[in-house]
Amino acid sequence: MGAGLVAALFAGLWWVNQPAASRLKKNTAPNPPAVPRGFGGSASCQECHAEEFSAWASSHHALAERPPAALDEVAFVPGRTFKHATQQTAFRKTNARLEVIAAGLHGTNETFPVQRILAHEPLRQMLVGFPGGRLQVTEAAWDPRSNEWFNVYGQEDRRPGEWGHWTGRGMNWNSMCATCHNTGLQKNYDAPTDSYHTTMVETGVGCEACHGPLQAHNDWQRTHPKTRTKDPTIPKFTRDEIFDTCAACHARRAEITGKPKPGDKFFDHHLLGIVDDSSTFYPDGQIAEEDYEATAFMGSRMFHQGVRCLDCHNVHGLKTKLPGNLLCLTCHGPGATNAPAINPVTHSHHQVFGCDTNGVPTHLDPAKYQPALIKETGGECVNCHMPQTPYMQRHWRHDHGFTIPDPLLTKQFGIPNACNRCHTGQSADWSLQFVEQWYATR
Ligand code: HEC
Ligand code: HEC
Ligand code: HEC
Ligand code: HEC
Ligand code: HEC
Ligand code: HEC
Ligand code: HEC
Ligand code: HEC
Repeated sequence: MGAGLVAALFAGLWWVNQPAASRLKKNTAPNPPAVPRGFGGSASCQECHAEEFSAWASSHHALAERPPAALDEVAFVPGRTFKHATQQTAFRKTNARLEVIAAGLHGTNETFPVQRILAHEPLRQMLVGFPGGRLQVTEAAWDPRSNEWFNVYGQEDRRPGEWGHWTGRGMNWNSMCATCHNTGLQKNYDAPTDSYHTTMVETGVGCEACHGPLQAHNDWQRTHPKTRTKDPTIPKFTRDEIFDTCAACHARRAEITGKPKPGDKFFDHHLLGIVDDSSTFYPDGQIAEEDYEATAFMGSRMFHQGVRCLDCHNVHGLKTKLPGNLLCLTCHGPGATNAPAINPVTHSHHQVFGCDTNGVPTHLDPAKYQPALIKETGGECVNCHMPQTPYMQRHWRHDHGFTIPDPLLTKQFGIPNACNRCHTGQSADWSLQFVEQWYATR
């Protein structure tokens, strides 16, 4: 299902309950509240924290939402047209403006200037302006790897007037997307006029989305250069507070207050989408719909032993700290930690890239781990313990539940298992026989 819509369904359930009459009153909105005080903005940090800044600047956080840039022009120049189901959308550059020509609210094609771009890789969606302070997300998305336009809804033919059409409430940026893709965002919905006065500190996930407002820190540092006095303005977060900050955006959740601050408790501000008898998750905790990472991870044994996001991810560049099995073996290697020690070869019963037949690593040099090479083998920890599912047609996301592949669950309850995600030509019984043979006696 379209990622946007799923996030939307959950994030925006309250919307449906708005009385229709209240949407029709004439515009009497008060002046929008000012952007929250106390923020310096990411650009202000660069002069003193060049290293963190450069790692962040090329990360997906910095690019999570942004004005169109030179790198986006390839999608519009030369102009082109793309057909999806019964509709046709065109793209072009007119003077300095990038434009989308698509079926608008009334069903006929209209020209919409692109105001901002949502996300970076493996796909980008366009934001265009609508009345009432709204931005809407186009269903046509750009894939920068294959250089082509595609429909985030796949073969679905959503029509103008439908809730889930890109012009509809379901694809409204203000209510459905903005909070997680920006910094210090306030939706500022005005029910009597059914309009938005959305404000933010900056587009994208900036430094202060995680560190909190730090203008006071900028001021203190500038007035106390090189003093030995301890800077009183820096907030220090615990591992759990950091996790809660990530979870605010990396969990499928509904907002309660709409005003979480970095370091606040997740549950003070959100209702978590959980593993229940709906179809959001499989009963063993694997992600089924667009669930992001935090819920599945909270259900894992690793989480309960204190493992957190930053044990595996670099905080500013976001990539994993080591490639492939090397990451997992920092804790699961023999004698490394209290984690169960795993010999990749005897444990997986598959060929393992970078190991000899005894499971002794032969390629400890991370540079030799080429993603293209390791994906070919069945012996990667992530292939069995972080199975991947495509979202928005193009993004293969890793399940963060760290579940055990179990073909018996497939047989009995139809829950997918990692073995048959690769061995698609085989049955669950086929996998089960090997799982029993390989692991039953353990
Ligand atoms: C709950 C927070 C949240 C909301 C709400 C949200 N996103 Fe995202 N979005 C994320 C996160 C986190 C990622 C990174 C991918 C991941 O976590 O697996 C992401 C990634 C993306 C991507 C990049 C492709 C990808 O799969 O990584 C696009 C495009 C995107 N979101 C569009 C949208 C649109 C459109 C909406 C609203 C209709 C929306 N998002 C609402 C958090 C959110
Ligand atoms: C004028 C220079 C300057 C500016 C501007 C500045 N910082 Fe700092 N920052 C420092 C110095 C110096 C320290 C170390 C202070 C100490 O340890 O007492 C520091 C410490 C920090 C720390 C804590 C580091 C730790 O070890 O825990 C964080 C986080 C931080 N800065 C974030 C930011 C962010 C975000 C911005 C932009 C909003 C910013 N800084 C702007 C100079 C600056
Ligand atoms: C304000 C919301 C927000 C917060 C807070 C946040 N993220 Fe994200 N994160 C996003 C969005 C949105 C994306 C997707 C951006 C895109 O695809 O352009 C993303 C992407 C990522 C990615 C994927 C990067 C890649 O290269 O594919 C990782 C990893 C990640 N975040 C980890 C974290 C961690 C760890 C934390 C906490 C320390 C955190 N995030 C806090 C919103 C957030
Ligand atoms: C996704 C959340 C997130 C974003 C965005 C982010 N930081 Fe951080 N940053 C953290 C966390 C969490 C830590 C503490 C890491 C730890 O304790 O291991 C940290 C640590 C730091 C430190 C201490 C030194 C270090 O590298 O560990 C500095 C300085 C810093 N950040 C500055 C910045 C600046 C400047 C930006 C923007 C250019 C930024 N951060 C963006 C979450 C974030
Ligand atoms: C920071 C250390 C650390 C890292 C890195 C780490 N693990 Fe773990 N892992 C643990 C600990 C500790 C446990 C044991 C939890 C317990 O005993 O309940 C564990 C348990 C597990 C389990 C058992 C889960 C269950 O429910 O039976 C799996 C599977 C697993 N890890 C897979 C991985 C994979 C795959 C990676 C790499 C992507 C990885 N681990 C990286 C520390 C780590
Ligand atoms: C071919 C699939 C496959 C691969 C690849 C794989 N595992 Fe497993 N893993 C399993 C199965 C099946 C089980 C459950 C049976 C068992 O406990 O031995 C399991 C169990 C585990 C456990 C729980 C063991 C315990 O004692 O509680 C951990 C930890 C684990 N794997 C970590 C890893 C790590 C780390 C890697 C990569 C070095 C890895 N696995 C690669 C299939 C795989
Ligand atoms: C035990 C290690 C581990 C932990 C803990 C972990 N991740 Fe990941 N994460 C990975 C691996 C491995 C990938 C795949 C990276 C790749 O293919 O380059 C990944 C990928 C991602 C991605 C990119 C989308 C995807 O699914 O491929 C996001 C976003 C992400 N992680 C966020 C988080 C957040 C947020 C947390 C904490 C709630 C977290 N991760 C905890 C290992 C981990
Ligand atoms: C990442 C995809 C992937 C996953 C996940 C995976 N395999 Fe494999 N499997 C392969 C590949 C590739 C080979 C052949 C080369 C090798 O051994 O790595 C293979 C070989 C095999 C073989 C021997 C060759 C044959 O086809 O008779 C068996 C049996 C097997 N896998 C069973 C399993 C079982 C059981 C699981 C789950 C516990 C599993 N595989 C998980 C990719 C995968």
